[in-house]
Amino acid sequence: MKPFGTEFCDRFATARYSDGAWSAPSIEPLAPLSLHPAAHVFHYASTCFEGFKAYRWSDGKGRIFRLHDHVARMQRSAKSLRLPIPAADLLAGMVIDVVHHNLADIPEPPASLYLRPTLIGTLENIGAAAAPSDEAILYVLASPVGDYFAGGAGALKLLVAEQPRTTEQLGSTKTGGNYAAALGPTLEAKEKYGVDQVLFCPDGDVQETGAANFLLISDDEILTKSLDTSFLHGMTRDSILKLGAELGYKISERPFTVEELLEKIGTYEACLSGTAATLSPVGALVYKGEEILVRDGQPGPNRAKLQKALQDIQYGLATDTHGWLTKVG
Ligand SMILES: Cc1ncc(COP(=O)(O)O)c(C=O)c1O
Repeated sequence: MKPFGTEFCDRFATARYSDGAWSAPSIEPLAPLSLHPAAHVFHYASTCFEGFKAYRWSDGKGRIFRLHDHVARMQRSAKSLRLPIPAADLLAGMVIDVVHHNLADIPEPPASLYLRPTLIGTLENIGAAAAPSDEAILYVLASPVGDYFAGGAGALKLLVAEQPRTTEQLGSTKTGGNYAAALGPTLEAKEKYGVDQVLFCPDGDVQETGAANFLLISDDEILTKSLDTSFLHGMTRDSILKLGAELGYKISERPFTVEELLEKIGTYEACLSGTAATLSPVGALVYKGEEILVRDGQPGPNRAKLQKALQDIQYGLATDTHGWLTKVG
């Protein structure tokens, strides 16, 4: 299988917004979009997206994980960027249609079909820096992706950086600019310290990495930052907290500092949560030039237990008591 995100199904869904209304969505052969060079998105970054997965079950049908929650998050992103907000039924319907048309391309678990709804402002106006794009294209790409852990769940090394990942007002918006803002510091950290990612902790407040949420897990507690506008509200984070509560973990959602983080990693496991990797183990932190192991530096048993609880639901090996899956086919 090709690297994550580089292989695409040959059909995608599109809808256009103009004159105050969305067109009827259509499924089309995947092809380049034709955009005016003055399109708002190219100049003023009016763009947001989502990322989530559909799984193939042994019955041959697809199951989309947390479709309606991802649709709601995309609506919040569109709202914060003053882009036309797609109705939930429109966007969910487009995702379901794409999965339906590409059902045969969903690989067997642990591989899956990654879904990428994208909304861009297409208003042709390079003088609209302070005006919203009232024209837009919404499309949904599908991409077969392999098992993130195919090479084994190696523990990651993170740089603890006391700088923000992005701005407070866009932290919980899934928009390209946030990734652009995190790219420079992340590349610099990789080069300078040989780390995999940066854990952004502005003024000592432990937030998240460039593309995943951060959790501390002991035998009886899961600790992660409480929701605010400074970071992306991950669905994996939310799912792990709900499953963790059912498994008897105390769920602590509250702000915590780098000082507390450094204290806790002697005994707590550290993990990154996100759609791509579910729960990735963190084996070491680099703080003020010094490398500090998380416990013994190895992936821990609580991560494995929680990841299994989540994947069993996604793969159809455990009952979906939360109504997280949407059946397609
Ligand atoms: C910045 C950021 N934080 C967290 C996440 C995890 O979110 P989710 O679990 O919904 O994939 C992602 C991935 O989408 C992300 O890009």
